[in-house]
Amino acid sequence: MGKFGELSLEQVANLSLDDLYNSGQSPSLQALTRLLAKPAGRAWTISEEQGVQGVVWFSVVQDEAEIIDVRVSGRYRRTGIGESLLTQSFEKLRLSKIRSVFLEVSFSNTAALALYEKLGFIMTGRRENYYKTAAGREDALTMRCKW
Ligand SMILES: CC(C)(COP(=O)(O)OP(=O)(O)OC[C@H]1O[C@@H](n2cnc3c(N)ncnc32)[C@H](O)[C@@H]1OP(=O)(O)O)[C@@H](O)C(=O)NCCC(=O)NCCS
Repeated sequence: MGKFGELSLEQVANLSLDDLYNSGQSPSLQALTRLLAKPAGRAWTISEEQGVQGVVWFSVVQDEAEIIDVRVSGRYRRTGIGESLLTQSFEKLRLSKIRSVFLEVSFSNTAALALYEKLGFIMTGRRENYYKTAAGREDALTMRCKW
């Protein structure tokens, strides 16, 4: 597994994050870069010499953090990178006095749901027909993890 580190706004342009964000799915890399330019934006990566293996983006307000996106490169999935990225970034957030993390995830995203549940996230709500998909609409789940 590659090295864990905080992502700065300056680094975004130099890292080949486009590979991770080429599916046209939301949020776009442009939107995430705009987030990082704000005081609330923070992001961490796990990367090796060949490139970024995974990235997580947060919006941090007072003592709460929201996961805006977490993404592992297709060829590195199921190798523990997503879990390591989240546990290590949570440790950094804890040191910044953050006391809880929340997020929103689509009902059909079984991989992400399993990851969040493994890390102790609890479902806090369900937004019906929240996401537009090729097949119609689907629900979003909101989840939270408190320390
Ligand atoms: C969700 C995602 C980040 C997981 O990253 P990953 O590096 O593959 O996950 P890990 O290898 O660290 O897996 C950790 C745990 O998550 C769960 N998990 C991950 N992928 C899974 C899958 N495809 N099916 C079932 N469980 C899965 C398992 O509990 C796993 O633990 P285990 O290996 O002991 O079984 C990755 O699938 C991804 O980038 N998806 C596309 C982007 C996305 O949907 N992001 C979420 C936005 S809310």
